[in-house]
Amino acid sequence: MGKVYKSLKKCRICGSKDLYKYLDLGKTPLANHLIDIKNADKKEDTFPLEVLYCKNCSLSQLSIVVEPEVLFSYYPYRSSVSKSFRKHCAGMAAKAAKILGANEKNENNLVVDIASNDGCLLQEFKKKNFRTIGVEPAKNLAKIAESNGIETINRFWSRKAAKSISAKHGKAKIIAATNVFAHADNLNEFMEGVEILLDNSGFFIVEVPYFHDLMTNNEFDTVYHEHLSYFLVRPLHKLYSNHNLSIVKIEKYPIHGGTIRVYASKSPKANLNISKSVEKFLDFEEKEGMYKLKSYDKLGSMAQKIKKELLAALKKLKEEGKKTAAYGASAKGNTLLNYCGIDSKLVEFIVDDTPEKQNHLAPGSRIKIVDAGFLEKEKPDYLLLLAWNFAKEIMQKTRMHYKRKVRYIIPIPRVRIL
Ligand code: TMP
Repeated sequence: MGKVYKSLKKCRICGSKDLYKYLDLGKTPLANHLIDIKNADKKEDTFPLEVLYCKNCSLSQLSIVVEPEVLFSYYPYRSSVSKSFRKHCAGMAAKAAKILGANEKNENNLVVDIASNDGCLLQEFKKKNFRTIGVEPAKNLAKIAESNGIETINRFWSRKAAKSISAKHGKAKIIAATNVFAHADNLNEFMEGVEILLDNSGFFIVEVPYFHDLMTNNEFDTVYHEHLSYFLVRPLHKLYSNHNLSIVKIEKYPIHGGTIRVYASKSPKANLNISKSVEKFLDFEEKEGMYKLKSYDKLGSMAQKIKKELLAALKKLKEEGKKTAAYGASAKGNTLLNYCGIDSKLVEFIVDDTPEKQNHLAPGSRIKIVDAGFLEKEKPDYLLLLAWNFAKEIMQKTRMHYKRKVRYIIPIPRVRIL
């Protein structure tokens, strides 16, 4: 691979060059670039994984930007693998229909989902009779969505994409962008696209992991090269106001370790009484020290502590002759494994229910990813929950193994053995 990344020179929201590095997770391979077993001998490229804080607008952001084509043209992550996420999507479609108001006929209204993955969210809008269009750069995912009846345009979101959808299908009443904002380098162009396509009475609904939760729950493993930005409400508020959009409501959800859903609109009339909720978040963030540099260094020391404790626990189990496997070959799992230096000597295999991930090796750690059938065959004594955000769902699924005393290691927010 030639040079496929560039260094960040200034804040992607406010343009300030006053950036402070507070987290350094070393050099790691790309967290979603699983290795085909056939290529097990090939060397992987590694990239610096560091987070900077913008002293002007409080946006946390990676020190480098890997080319999006390298990261997203093929993407093994499928939203609909998790039942909890499917349920979350159904809830979002129901709420969105409600905020549009009782007079609106869903069938007249267009919903566009940016980075629509396998169509998980749009399926729920479709059930409510909305017209739906997905925009998804990963070929493999766009194909799955199409085969499930969700019209999907296989491209990256841009001003051009927005213009072409608007010309062909008209303005959108809802534009959704869940778990994609953090992936966009040029957030200003992203927003310009939204300004072009959004109807004057429509809503732009964004979901991002909430940085305050990352900080308080030591979720340093959610840092990987696809996540270019880590959001508080303060920088979002600034970004939106530069693009004639007002945040009208913010809600908090537990999904993905703590997520905020931000509703915005072009029209002040759409004010859902919410400017208050923006103020509430801004006050909260200030009180929590989120705008003060000194709050940030703690994350690095917590990461080191978790690494030390997790390695000690896994080594002890190994010495006792116990077998440990992991569940959830999530991108964050790969950050954790690589940062801690865990390989197949300590964790024998990783179970994941995503067919595309199975029979691959995890990047860096080279641990084999397998289907759940392996649990019965190999009977591990301990399961490290790499997808700790779905701990409840995974523990329920593996309960039958629990009966024969499988125990769980949960690494975040602190190492616990249950
Ligand atoms: P995420 O935390 O980034 O959403 O990734 C979760 C990973 O865990 C993803 O690879 C899918 C996998 N997973 C399963 O294999 N089975 C499950 O029941 C759940 C909830 C997740």
